[in-house]
Amino acid sequence: MSAGWSLWVMFLVVLNLSITLFLFLWGPRAKIPTLPDGTSGHVWAHGVLREGVRKLPLWWVLFSGAMFVWGFTYLALYPGFGNHKGVLGWTAHGELARDVAANDAKMDELLLRFRQYPVEQLAGDPAAIQMGGRLFVDNCAACHGRGGYGNVKLGAPSLIDDDWLYGGSGKDILDSIQHGRAGIMPPWSSLGAQNVKNLAQYVLSLSGAPHDAAMAAAGQPLFTTCAACHGPQGKGNPALGAPNLTDDIWLHGGTVADIEQTIGGGRQGAMPAWGKRLSDDQMRVLAAYVYHLAHQGDVAKRDDTASR
Ligand code: HEC
Ligand code: HEC
Repeated sequence: MSAGWSLWVMFLVVLNLSITLFLFLWGPRAKIPTLPDGTSGHVWAHGVLREGVRKLPLWWVLFSGAMFVWGFTYLALYPGFGNHKGVLGWTAHGELARDVAANDAKMDELLLRFRQYPVEQLAGDPAAIQMGGRLFVDNCAACHGRGGYGNVKLGAPSLIDDDWLYGGSGKDILDSIQHGRAGIMPPWSSLGAQNVKNLAQYVLSLSGAPHDAAMAAAGQPLFTTCAACHGPQGKGNPALGAPNLTDDIWLHGGTVADIEQTIGGGRQGAMPAWGKRLSDDQMRVLAAYVYHLAHQGDVAKRDDTASR
């Protein structure tokens, strides 16, 4: 605040306080002309209402006095009287800075602990999972769903099934998050509509799903084209993000129509890179959270075997 504004504020404060203080001190002493019946002689509503003359109640006087004391003390201790900083030197910035510093110190301690573990181990740390869960909701849930169930329409894979396009080690997951992923399934409509249908039936047969055996047999020889990416047995290739076609888990839907659409029209999945948007610590905590999501079942299984 410039000196001029400061003086102006001080002037207003002094003016206001002096007027109210004057009224407060003068009021109880003021002599109001009073008629013998104890009223001021002012009447309203044709004499129905008459103005009485009473002393100020004691509680009101004491309360107002206390308010004045409080007001003056406040102005002496805290900022409020122009540029006067207050005897205590309190500022809102200072208070905020102190809170932030305290919080940072707590976080640093936590993150320092997190940095000592590999992602797989971090996944067992409740504090990391809590922090990762919050980051996940903020950044990832829009595509992968709040619970990490995935979204077939967006081609965003489920992250809870321990079935991975790009590998499920802590490092693989961290790589997916940091650098992003772009899986490209080329369109095969050039093979002809019938061949696409036959291939779809063959793909269904790979996971033991109900299929037309004759069509699948006709599609099988064509699968050599697909094997370059999906592998000769259709088990997938994490280096390319080519899904395993034998596990009955479908990124783009597992109905006949979905699969024919995938083969005939191709598919593309884009996982954004987070390396520039999130800190290394945040990405590691997120990777741990995703690892934890995918391995929750293991814990249940382990408990199950233990109880038997
Ligand atoms: C814009 C939508 C979108 C957002 C936001 C998004 N993802 Fe993804 N994610 C995808 C898609 C699509 C894929 C599959 C990429 C592909 O098909 O190659 C994917 C793949 C992944 C994979 C690899 C899965 C596997 O099977 O190997 C991981 C891990 C992952 N995402 C984690 C995250 C995390 C953690 C976040 C939040 C920081 C996030 N994603 C945010 C769309 C998204
Ligand atoms: C250049 C490598 C490549 C070739 C060749 C290829 N694919 Fe793919 N395919 C992919 C990738 C990568 C994906 C995952 C797309 C994504 O990430 O969204 C995919 C996805 C699929 C899916 C969807 C799986 C799911 O879970 O929803 C099917 C089905 C499929 N491919 C079948 C085929 C068939 C049949 C052929 C041969 C005609 C073929 N692919 C050839 C790379 C390939």
